[in-house]
Amino acid sequence: MNLMRMTVIGTGYLGATHAACMAELGHDVLGVDVDEKKIEALKNSTVPFYEPGLPEVLERNIAAGRLAFTTSYDEAAAFANVHFLGVGTPQQRGSYAADLKYVYAVIQDLVPKLKGKHVIFGKSTVPVGTAAELQQMANELAPEGTEVEIAWNPEFLREGFAVKDTITPDRIVLGTRDENTTAEEVAREVYATPLASGTPFVITDLQTAELVKVSANAFLATKISFINAVSEVCELVGADVVKLADAIGYDDRIGRKFLGAGLGFGGGCLPKDIRAFMARAGELGADQALTFLREVDAINMRRRDRMVTLAREACGGNLLGHNVTVLGAAFKPNSDDVRDSPALSIAGSLSLAGAQVTVYDPQGMENARKVFPTLNYANSTDDALRGADVVVLATEWQEFRELDPVHAASLVRVKKVLDGRNVLPVDAWKEAGWDIKALGRSL
Ligand code: UDX
Repeated sequence: MNLMRMTVIGTGYLGATHAACMAELGHDVLGVDVDEKKIEALKNSTVPFYEPGLPEVLERNIAAGRLAFTTSYDEAAAFANVHFLGVGTPQQRGSYAADLKYVYAVIQDLVPKLKGKHVIFGKSTVPVGTAAELQQMANELAPEGTEVEIAWNPEFLREGFAVKDTITPDRIVLGTRDENTTAEEVAREVYATPLASGTPFVITDLQTAELVKVSANAFLATKISFINAVSEVCELVGADVVKLADAIGYDDRIGRKFLGAGLGFGGGCLPKDIRAFMARAGELGADQALTFLREVDAINMRRRDRMVTLAREACGGNLLGHNVTVLGAAFKPNSDDVRDSPALSIAGSLSLAGAQVTVYDPQGMENARKVFPTLNYANSTDDALRGADVVVLATEWQEFRELDPVHAASLVRVKKVLDGRNVLPVDAWKEAGWDIKALGRSL
């Protein structure tokens, strides 16, 4: 195999994983970030966030000399002719649109330092049209005699499965400005291992590649909100959304995945991506095409309100002075990411409504504390359960799914549990004397 040299710019959840996994594939990789603390940690083989399996990959490849980190763009420019751009594109303050300042900054800081022929592969999720705009910027900023090609290579990794999703992706998508570009040739070398094992390789124009990413996330968000909308109806008529999802999921045109009814989606991608997609469609004059995403967003947020209502009802109509235990703070299990987390959102709302809220999450505590310093944070599940008047399961960590209801009953003050993720074995909890309620089901 032809091993390549490359940089990965931006070392957050996406970039750090991409850098480590490209080294794992045998390439020579330099990770770049302006955040000195992050780079210092990574240099010392410490992943600055929780991602199962990533620390091992990082350590192994640093030790093998295939992976290094820097804050210097001069070093990055001299290191390789292939660069991956994986910086964040968060939601703009006061708007639905994506904030592209970090993406622009990379082009502005890197391109003037480049010499010769370079390819920059964008991996960040961006509004359609951004790659063409970056190509224009790069053309203007490139020194005399330097040629920079911008291509788009969206990333589909899920937090919690990031290593697997990067090393064995279910597809590779590449958008290029023309057919048969250098970018395509380079991408075939970079991804030689997954391509050799038959991973589908979809080559498109730039704008299609950009749209593939947001469309995938918009579809997933829509699927979750679909089942959560049905869940609202189930609650009114006493139907069971879990059995319903099983039943429709057997139709392989529908499929059971992402029909998990409950507190809905959060995280650093789905919520901001559907909003940025709507904003971009509006700018393009196609706002009507995506107005349904407003509903997808609204359904998702309503589930959080519903959970607060259920908790209030469990406390006899008033949360004031009641002890509420929220199990989970991360937006999903196997992650420490609390960005737009449904769990933390309801913990905050319950606290603002007067409840004494105690939170426990196996990995998300440090991040949760930064966002909501005023909540009580327990040291363990047991610690969190002690004295509770109602327990809310908000993130479906394995540890919470497997909680022994008999033991849990011995710790709380009142045996009431609200399953926000529809994962608890209902019969076992009932047998242990619990009053169990869940979103979308009358139990
Ligand atoms: C998502 C996409 O899956 C990934 O392809 C993309 O690259 C980034 O965004 P991620 O944000 O890591 O990945 O999480 P994902 O596993 O997709 O879950 C998103 C949210 O949906 C979580 O809050 C999860 O709890 C929720 N969810 C998921 C449900 O509420 N019900 C489900 O059935 C599935």
